[in-house]
Amino acid sequence: MKFHGIESHTSKSIVRNLEVAELDEKWIARGATLKYYPLAIRKTKGSLLWDEDGNEYIDFLSSAAVYNIGNCHPRIREAVRAQLESNFNYTSAYFYQEKPARLAEKLAEITPGNFPKLVTLGFSGSDANDSAIKAARAYTGKKHIISFRGSYHGTTYGSLALTGIIDEGNKKCIFPLEGVTFVDFPDPLRNPWGINGYLEPGKLVERSLSQIHHALTALKGDVAGIIVEPIQGDSGAIIPPAGYMTKLKDLCTRYGLILIAEEIQTGMGRTGKWWGIENFDVEPDILVTGKALGGGMPISAVVGRKEIMASVPSPFFGFTHMGHAANSAAALAAIEVTEEEELCRKAIETGGYIAENFAAMARRYEILGDIRHRGLLFGVEVTDGGAETPDRDGALKICWRAWEKGLVMITFGKMGNVLRIAPPLNIEKALVDRAIEIIEESIKDFLEGRIPDEVVKYLQGW
Ligand SMILES: Cc1ncc(COP(=O)(O)O)c(C=O)c1O
Repeated sequence: MKFHGIESHTSKSIVRNLEVAELDEKWIARGATLKYYPLAIRKTKGSLLWDEDGNEYIDFLSSAAVYNIGNCHPRIREAVRAQLESNFNYTSAYFYQEKPARLAEKLAEITPGNFPKLVTLGFSGSDANDSAIKAARAYTGKKHIISFRGSYHGTTYGSLALTGIIDEGNKKCIFPLEGVTFVDFPDPLRNPWGINGYLEPGKLVERSLSQIHHALTALKGDVAGIIVEPIQGDSGAIIPPAGYMTKLKDLCTRYGLILIAEEIQTGMGRTGKWWGIENFDVEPDILVTGKALGGGMPISAVVGRKEIMASVPSPFFGFTHMGHAANSAAALAAIEVTEEEELCRKAIETGGYIAENFAAMARRYEILGDIRHRGLLFGVEVTDGGAETPDRDGALKICWRAWEKGLVMITFGKMGNVLRIAPPLNIEKALVDRAIEIIEESIKDFLEGRIPDEVVKYLQGW
């Protein structure tokens, strides 16, 4: 049993949590998860969660950037219930339904680019990325896709092949899809060229682009497109230098490459704009969204230039349940809530407030390194006191103590040492204040040696 002996390291009451964890560990294949502490969620509301033992938590994860509008939003429940009362879904493969068509119309309206568009719908970010690369390949008649090291794009065959945060050697056992070439993301802090991208952003941009030029030459022009997260999420909220995306877009235009903005984590207001790429004033040829799109219901979408999307033959985009009517109804409601509650503005305001608090904490605790964010997509580096030496165990211990104290926060990042902060965009200020207090108390406990080393072995994580 994964959590055997854990009770001796915590005074938290977690009996039911452990029963559920044991059931899961017994029956669900390990290839699906990167589990943290033994938390079994029973109930959720807004920015609060309750576990199977009745413990309450503030949600600083939003189910991995899904609940941008808050957990269990009543508008989603109403929209889904109304749809289920008339029809769950009747396959869009053969006939028509209004909700998916309305959702496609709305997505075309709220995504960047004042050009004709078409949309295809799926269920997960992963399948949407597959559809995006199908479109880029079908339209250009070319094979290769350029993707970035450190990226996360999902786990279907196509999207796993695109995912750069997983070592290529580890992927070998499943014989991944061919035709993906990786280049380095212009990470200002850690890049292969040893450039400090905060001090010399121009140099970093040029180095990164010249690597892409080399890749294009090596691939002899057989390149369909480039897929990029405008801000790399699971790599630790890595923000490229200003000007990078514009130059990347120019490069795509010059060589006839399709630029795919992968907005599965950065979309739906998370970064303070509807879409992360809008922070850089770039219009992609294709935009991919998922996660928060359905307000908690599983739905994804690929929105692209009409001629690109139209080049994919039937039924290559199709799934029996695509654009499921109940999930499309949920997505329309999630978009309305995002607009009506002005969640982009709230993401900027609350994000700024949290950033100020972290900046103040960083003056008190030298283990806090680089603090990055756009809106409410945050990465906070935990270091061993030297500015850039990652401390993964330290970050995990801080998350452990935060969980014990009632805050759900996990780590991510290339080195697993980054605190991941992504609360619902409409989180109340009192909850943010309490969460920040918990983080500070947890940092103090860590520094004063009050968190046992043994807990790290229970936490898998990134
Ligand atoms: C940026 C990004 N792309 C794609 C995915 C995959 O989405 P899904 O797990 O819904 O297939 C994720 C999920 O974490 C993600 O963060």
